[in-house]
Amino acid sequence: MRRALIGAGLLAMWAGASALAQDPGARRVAGEGKQIYQRANCVGCHKWHGDGGGGYGGDALSLRKSELTRDQIIEVLRCGRPGTGMPYHLRGAYDGDECYGLTREAVGKDMPIEGKTFLRPSEIEAVTDYVIASLQHRGEPSYTDCEAFFGAGARTCNVYKTAAATPSGGTE
Ligand code: HEC
Repeated sequence: MRRALIGAGLLAMWAGASALAQDPGARRVAGEGKQIYQRANCVGCHKWHGDGGGGYGGDALSLRKSELTRDQIIEVLRCGRPGTGMPYHLRGAYDGDECYGLTREAVGKDMPIEGKTFLRPSEIEAVTDYVIASLQHRGEPSYTDCEAFFGAGARTCNVYKTAAATPSGGTE
């Protein structure tokens, strides 16, 4: 019994310490990733919520429903996806054959378009981690998600508020 209590105490201490150790870094990466998500115009095609949909980039796939692994997402961001509207973000992506083993010549008319901005490898990782942490497998976009993106009380999010109508008769 005493042993178990001490064990639980240690576990709680350890969990607390590791949460503290991880948090600031995680927050920084999330913030940077979100900035890149906007700056590189992921938001233009996949939308703030990542569900994508029709637009000038064609049908951008839902990042919320994506089954890709972290490495696969990184590859898609670096290299784009040949023959689709998903642009590449690595400078000189097809100069050699580091993208799917394809050179510019080999990829030919399926050459993906160039991203709005090129991204450094660390930036590609940051935006990938943002996609994984804030969009992937997160279900339908909610009011809370919307506020997290646009800021507390953002008017753009009101549409999500009514969608999640309160049964107790909302105050607005
Ligand atoms: C010009 C529009 C456009 C922009 C900008 C864009 N995408 Fe895409 N993206 C697409 C389209 C279209 C697809 C679907 C490709 C296909 O059909 O396989 C896609 C696919 C993806 C996929 C693969 C999803 C899967 O499950 O296969 C990921 C991940 C992705 N985009 C992330 C991003 C991120 C992150 C950014 C910003 C750095 C971004 N995209 C910018 C249009 C865009």
